[in-house]
Amino acid sequence: MTSQNPLAFVKNLFRIIAAGPEVPPPLKGNPLLRTILNRRSVRKFSRESIPDTVLQAVLEAGRLAPSAVNFQTWSFFVFTPRSWRAAFGRPLPCSGVRAIMVMADLHRGRKALSVIPPRPLVEYTLGVTNAAMAAMSMNMAAEALGVASVMLTETGRSGYLDAKYLKERLSLPNGVFPLLTLVLGYPRSGPPVLPPKLPLHHICHTGKYRDRGPKVMNDWLAQMSAGFKADHPLSSFDAQLRLYLSKIDRVEQELQDLIFYGRGEDAERRTPDDAHRRKSSNSS
Ligand SMILES: Cc1cc2nc3c(=O)[nH]c(=O)nc-3n(C[C@H](O)[C@H](O)[C@H](O)COP(=O)(O)O)c2cc1C
Repeated sequence: MTSQNPLAFVKNLFRIIAAGPEVPPPLKGNPLLRTILNRRSVRKFSRESIPDTVLQAVLEAGRLAPSAVNFQTWSFFVFTPRSWRAAFGRPLPCSGVRAIMVMADLHRGRKALSVIPPRPLVEYTLGVTNAAMAAMSMNMAAEALGVASVMLTETGRSGYLDAKYLKERLSLPNGVFPLLTLVLGYPRSGPPVLPPKLPLHHICHTGKYRDRGPKVMNDWLAQMSAGFKADHPLSSFDAQLRLYLSKIDRVEQELQDLIFYGRGEDAERRTPDDAHRRKSSNSS
């Protein structure tokens, strides 16, 4: 993606500003729908604290979230700015006033569910899927109670991109995978604009999958670049992507190690296939 000409830049900015939720008028007043559609990631918070009762309700929304087989394969680490600093030696990202780090937790159920054979990728996928449900439930509960948030995985070493580091810092047992941090607070300024979302007719399919070619993603990329430039004149969306890409080889290796080759209890649960795969990858 190269930089776009000024006319295309302005055009793309207008498209971002003009876009908004599209729902049939009679449904627009529905309060839950409004909460869902108006949620935005907020990255700057005021110093106003969140009442404990509100935080409690947010966590309760996570506890009661849906999960496959009702396994509830998640754990939540709750932080204040002070406890975040104590754990990681730096400030809570985005000057959030509370944070909830969401983990996929396959460890807790292992003893009770030892009849289930070890299948690392299935377990990991199950854990991630379930924990994502809990994260989104907490996100929406926060919104409903007037608390804004952002989910982080990269910013501030807050999620799966730094799973190995977080496991060490938080003494997580094998089978517990840090995924993301929900940073909470009251917004410091007005709501951010809706970032470019793909049109419904491009993401919905009936019958067979229809590949619509690269145009829609190129269009998205052009809008993302324009929006990013408007927010960060000294940087670019390209540079942001490059930063992300510079980490993925390390992250891939660390996640493979954590998912397939955990030590101790996990090692006992490793399948013969896994042991074989590890041996071949070590010898290559
Ligand atoms: C799993 C996940 C991880 C994310 N990680 C980050 C992050 O590390 N840093 C960040 O600034 N935003 C992060 N976000 C927020 C996204 O950038 C944001 O959701 C996206 O741009 C769409 O904006 P919206 O949430 O306002 O619709 C993350 C969101 C999700 C769901």
